[in-house]
Amino acid sequence: MRFIYILFLWFFNTLSAGASSISNQVMDQHRGGALTYKKYCIICHGKRGFGDGVLPLAIRHYPSTDLVNFRIAPTADKIKEVVLFGLLSNHVKSEMPPYVNELTDRELESIVNFVILLRKDNQTAVAHIDKTPTLKKTSVTFGKIIFRQRCVKCHGYEGKGDGALGSIIKDPPPYNLTISKASDTYLRALIRKGGAAMNRSPHMPPWGAELTRLDIDSLILYLLSIREKVPGA
Ligand code: HEC
Ligand code: HEC
Repeated sequence: MRFIYILFLWFFNTLSAGASSISNQVMDQHRGGALTYKKYCIICHGKRGFGDGVLPLAIRHYPSTDLVNFRIAPTADKIKEVVLFGLLSNHVKSEMPPYVNELTDRELESIVNFVILLRKDNQTAVAHIDKTPTLKKTSVTFGKIIFRQRCVKCHGYEGKGDGALGSIIKDPPPYNLTISKASDTYLRALIRKGGAAMNRSPHMPPWGAELTRLDIDSLILYLLSIREKVPGA
C-alpha cells in the first residue's frame, strides 16, 4: 500500500514538474517574442498589434497593418511565410519587409507565437513588451545594433541609402548617411520627429515614441562614426 502511495507521489510530481517546465518554456518564448516584436515589428504594427505603428500613422494611404483583426495570415504557417518572405510572398502586396535573412530560427518561431498571443491574449502580450529590458548608457556599439535593427531596411547595411526599401522609396530616396553633414542637434530632431515634421520626406519615420533618448543618442554616436572622413580634415 505504502509502495503504491510513493509510486503515486512520484508519478504526480513528475507530471507537475513536466507541466511547469513546459509553461516556463512558453514564458521564455513569449519574452523572446516580445523582444523581437519590439525590435522589428512595432514600428509598423503598433505595440498592441492593432496596426497603429508610427510609420503607418505618418504615411497617407498606408495599407492596414492590423495583426489582430487579420486579413492575410490566419494560421501559424501563413504568419511564418509572411514574416519570412514579406512582399516577396504571394500573400502580401505592399510594404511588409521580408525577414528571411534577419531572424534566427528561434526568433522566427517566437515571433510567430507572439503574433498568435497578440490575437488570443492581447493584454498578456503587451505586458511582455512592457517588461522588455532597456539600455542604461549610450554607446556607439549599441547605436550600431539599433541601426541594424531599425534603419538598414531603408538606409542600407552601411548607411549608404541602398537598403531593400530604397528601391521603392524615391523622390527622395533614403539618405546616404555617410555623406551627411547635419549637426547632432538636427539629427536628434529629425530622428525624433521624422521627416514630415521637418519638411523632409514623410518616408523617414518619426522615432520619438519608439526609441528612448539613450537609444537616439547612441544612434547619433554611430551615425557620426560612419561618416566619410574628409581627406586632410
Ligand atoms: C515597414 C513596415 C512593416 C514592418 C517593419 C513589419 N510589417 Fe508586417 N506588414 C506590413 C504591412 C504593410 C502588411 C500588410 C500587407 C498587405 O496588406 O498586403 C503587413 C502584414 C503582416 C502580416 C499579415 C497580417 C494579416 O492580415 O494576417 C503579418 C503576420 C505580419 N505583417 C507580421 C510582421 C512581423 C512579425 C513583423 C516583425 C518581424 C513585421 N510584420 C514587420 C508592414 C510591416
Ligand atoms: C522607411 C524608410 C526609412 C527608415 C526605416 C529610416 N529612414 Fe531615415 N530617411 C529616409 C528617407 C526617405 C530620408 C530622406 C529624407 C529627405 O531627404 O527628405 C531619410 C533621411 C534620414 C536622415 C537625414 C540625413 C541628413 O543629413 O539630412 C537621417 C539622419 C536619417 N534618415 C536617420 C535614420 C535613422 C537613424 C533611422 C533608424 C532609426 C532611419 N533613418 C530609418 C527613410 C527612412
